[in-house]
Amino acid sequence: MSGHGSGKVILVGEHVVVYGVPALVVGIERGADADAVAAEDGVSSLTIGDGAPIRPGDGTDAGRGFAGLLAACGVTRAVRVHATTDLPAAAGLGCSAALGVAVVRALDQFGARAKADADDVATRALAWETVFHGNPSGVDVAAAARGGCFRFRRTESGPVIDDVPIARPLTLAIGHTGVASSTKAMVEGVARLRERRPEIFQKSLDGIAALVGNARLAIETGDLGALGHLMNLAQFLLAGLMVSTEEIETMCRAARDAGALGAKLTGAGGGGCVVALVEGDATPVLEAWRERGFDGFATTVCRGAGGDA
Ligand code: MEV
Repeated sequence: MSGHGSGKVILVGEHVVVYGVPALVVGIERGADADAVAAEDGVSSLTIGDGAPIRPGDGTDAGRGFAGLLAACGVTRAVRVHATTDLPAAAGLGCSAALGVAVVRALDQFGARAKADADDVATRALAWETVFHGNPSGVDVAAAARGGCFRFRRTESGPVIDDVPIARPLTLAIGHTGVASSTKAMVEGVARLRERRPEIFQKSLDGIAALVGNARLAIETGDLGALGHLMNLAQFLLAGLMVSTEEIETMCRAARDAGALGAKLTGAGGGGCVVALVEGDATPVLEAWRERGFDGFATTVCRGAGGDA
């Protein structure tokens, strides 16, 4: 009775994806796992790691989210869910979405439901994600459910997702600024900028939209140098949306100086994580970050998203 959800890295397109611009995303190996067993005491609960049990409707956001997941999965028997994750929380790597997807998959097995496809799992996991993120584009739950590399576009009639085949494996160094960031607050900040300075917002949005198209081509043709360059440009435009920070800029510079092909924030910014694309070995970038007091890890993405994770 166990389920898995992948963590995610947005290569290009965070924030603007909320407004219908496509984003290029990869699901990564790190993620979340969940087990579901019958609750002998008749009371449903969700524990994350060694945290306190969350009860459906206990008045907390997590309790509301868990109740939403139980309803979305049609679970009526009392269930005890235990989830673990090796992703940092509030860091832009889709930790809450990975947890939501892992729990949905565990609940499906608990309820003996037929194996659902990735889109269906992602839609139900939104019941959890929405509690924490307010107005999520859905990109995080899509990555958590699919893994691999894909292009995601939010539309009024639901997400449009295309598999992006990877010509050459993408080796990514992912580093944490050490600063927690709230996606909800950052998305609201960009919405305020859009109201107050629509011309700045629109320029960044148009610029990032152009980068996404070119970045997809670079991934499909294996032109890693071009992809790195496009990531650097995306970072420049994201800084214009006021979502970069001093730590993020320091980490991007350090990664490029250590030989990365490109580096940018990933996720909501305001802290959280930086992603650097490297040619081959990620060690020099990880060391450069460690010397400056930042933790990181490396991951390689080799496949498009086609099919279930
Ligand atoms: C968060 O991982 C990505 C954002 O674009 C928000 C969203 O798409 O829901 C900042």
